[in-house]
Amino acid sequence: MKLLVTGGAGFIGSNFIHYILKKYPSYVVINLDKPTYAGNFESLSDVENNRNYYVITGDITSPTHVEAVFQNGIDVVVHFAAESHVDRSILNPNVFFQTNVLGTQYLVEFAKQYKVKKFVQISTDEVYGSLGQTGRFTEATQLQPNSPYSASKASADLLVRAYYETFGIPVNITRCSNNYGPFQFPEKLIPLSIIRAMNDESIPLYGSGLQVRDWLHVDDHCRAIDLVIHHGVPGEIYNIGANNEWTNVDLIKEILDKLHKPYDLIHFVKDRPGHDQRYAIDASKIKRDLGWTPRITFEEGLSETIEWYLDHEFWWKRVQEGEYRSYMALQYGHR
Ligand code: NAD
Ligand code: DAU
Repeated sequence: MKLLVTGGAGFIGSNFIHYILKKYPSYVVINLDKPTYAGNFESLSDVENNRNYYVITGDITSPTHVEAVFQNGIDVVVHFAAESHVDRSILNPNVFFQTNVLGTQYLVEFAKQYKVKKFVQISTDEVYGSLGQTGRFTEATQLQPNSPYSASKASADLLVRAYYETFGIPVNITRCSNNYGPFQFPEKLIPLSIIRAMNDESIPLYGSGLQVRDWLHVDDHCRAIDLVIHHGVPGEIYNIGANNEWTNVDLIKEILDKLHKPYDLIHFVKDRPGHDQRYAIDASKIKRDLGWTPRITFEEGLSETIEWYLDHEFWWKRVQEGEYRSYMALQYGHR
């Protein structure tokens, strides 16, 4: 099996490559990544000598780059590459549509031309928009994206779906809730909070802090994608989530408790424009049809993640250099 992983130098992609190389030692993995500020090949330094692992530095918005990769004979595409951060999509939406929509179109087009056996579009629960206090997103929930990021992901999902309907490309779309775990870029809430708390720096909490996210460990996400690759029914969408809802304020307090830091590090700041109130995934379809179930409790997963950031200062210090500083200044003002 020859697997093309796009965006493999990012958070979920790098965890996924580790997972696949360990579980399927005979599979060949090609990691196509640009990389952007969010990509870091160092996250895979431990597997760089694995003879089944190949890196191709290339841009999914370049049809020349993308076609060159498909000429290697690809069986399955797992498409993670994206601009992934909501706040950045508010500051600069354009690149989100270039990468997430146009880049996906090139990939699925060459997947068609080179007759791949499966194309897995890694999408997000954010395409469904926001929930009130009750209910959960199912695969049939109407798409109502509220941010430029989620609108670009929803657009990509629709074009992947169209390639299935029109050309019969064997696609699956997965829609997962918020992931956490090692190698997550520290612009996202959990690593941002861990690192800032460790350094006794204030943690910016948007608006009321009462928005709800449904957190899943990245390894549980990887196991779900594995099942979708091997058993997903072409054309089907699978929601992925662990039924693990937290308000942002309670989550940050949990992190502060685990690090023995005071709550007064929490600093309420201006709300995110268009901030979705609540996400919650109904994952009964993937549980029923593919036998997936999350294995990592939040208690153990969060503790391990905090430990990982405590032990990998060299990793997060490196990714905080350069571009990160100007982004933080733009997003949070004085930081
Ligand atoms: P990330 O930002 O950590 O990584 C994205 C990767 O894509 C980076 O390595 C980056 O270099 C690469 N990339 C970006 N533009 C590229 C381009 N033009 N050409 C080639 N590579 C490019 O993102 P992540 O959090 O790992 O998310 C991965 C995927 O999963 C995304 O599609 C995202 O929408 C989806 N998703 C993420 C979450 C989450 O909680 N993080 C949840 C559900 C779905
Ligand atoms: O739901 C899946 C999505 O989860 C993925 O599709 C996205 O790629 C991923 O970035 C994530 O999006 P969120 O916007 O939910 O994640 P983020 O970590 O940016 O924010 C989580 C919550 O915390 C959200 O309600 C906003 C809030 N927040 C975030 C930051 C960065 C704060 O209060 N302060 C902050 O500084």
